Amino acid sequence: MKGGSRVALVTGSAMGYKDYGPSIGGAIAIRLARDGYKLVVVDMLRAAGERTVEIIKGAGGDAIFVRADVSLTKDIKMLVSFVKKNFGRLDCLVNNVARYSPGMLKSASEISEREWYKTLDVNLNSYFKMSKYFIPLLLKSGFSTIINISSIESMSALPNFSVYSVSKSAINSLTRTLAVDYAPMIRSNAVLPGFVRIANSENGRTPSQLKGWYSKISRQYPLKRVCEVEEIASVVSFLASKESSYINGQTIIVDGGKSIFDFHEF
Ligand SMILES: NC(=O)c1ccc[n+]([C@@H]2O[C@H](COP(=O)([O-])OP(=O)(O)OC[C@H]3O[C@@H](n4cnc5c(N)ncnc54)[C@H](O)[C@@H]3O)[C@@H](O)[C@H]2O)c1
Repeated sequence: MKGGSRVALVTGSAMGYKDYGPSIGGAIAIRLARDGYKLVVVDMLRAAGERTVEIIKGAGGDAIFVRADVSLTKDIKMLVSFVKKNFGRLDCLVNNVARYSPGMLKSASEISEREWYKTLDVNLNSYFKMSKYFIPLLLKSGFSTIINISSIESMSALPNFSVYSVSKSAINSLTRTLAVDYAPMIRSNAVLPGFVRIANSENGRTPSQLKGWYSKISRQYPLKRVCEVEEIASVVSFLASKESSYINGQTIIVDGGKSIFDFHEF
């Protein structure tokens, strides 16, 4: 499996927790494999991560799962050694992980310091550390990209979700600093999804509850529907490819027009 074709690594690319349903990271890994990359699927969840690999291999692609907690520097260093040893190169790094916990659903005065730092360790610091430790390998590629999955919450604020918004705003800024510091060897861009339908947020809701929930959310979107994971993966695919060779340091909003939509009724 050494050398040869391009290699991509996607953090948080396990399929959804229950029944291995849709996940953004899983869809990105599957799409990049379809584009011809060898995939390193990274997640804390082994069975769901192996499922992503199974789907890729079933479609004729090449992928391997590596279990890692990307909030830990030692796991990131293990990933760098693994990729160096097994592939000798990395052409595309997608930072996609996010930690969600009931304890982080709080305003600034209410969230505990522990939750704040724990969340930033995954949702922001892992993006920095994965970039930091993989940059030497990415620089050797000749044409490499870092793609950070941010959110439209980086530009606005969802009530009681302070640490999430802060982490995403900082990811936009990190993306811009990487873009100026490592171009022309590495292009860096961020993708800012609006609401995306994923298995993990469907968990615990009945089909009729889900229908009502999605229809309520859809009203805030000019396209009148929520986003599917493949619609984020196709943007990542474009940003990773030579088709986007002059796009660098950008925050690409993929929200069906929600952020420019004033749904005030007269
Ligand atoms: N779902 C949405 O509506 C939406 C909207 C905007 C942005 N996003 C962003 O999309 C990305 C994907 O998240 P998602 O919402 O699809 O959630 P998700 O729960 O499906 O995916 C997150 C994945 O990250 C893994 N993970 C969490 N902590 C980890 C760690 N320390 N080490 C390794 N893996 C870890 C989880 O196991 C999970 O597989 C996130 O960056 C999220 O902020 C999602």
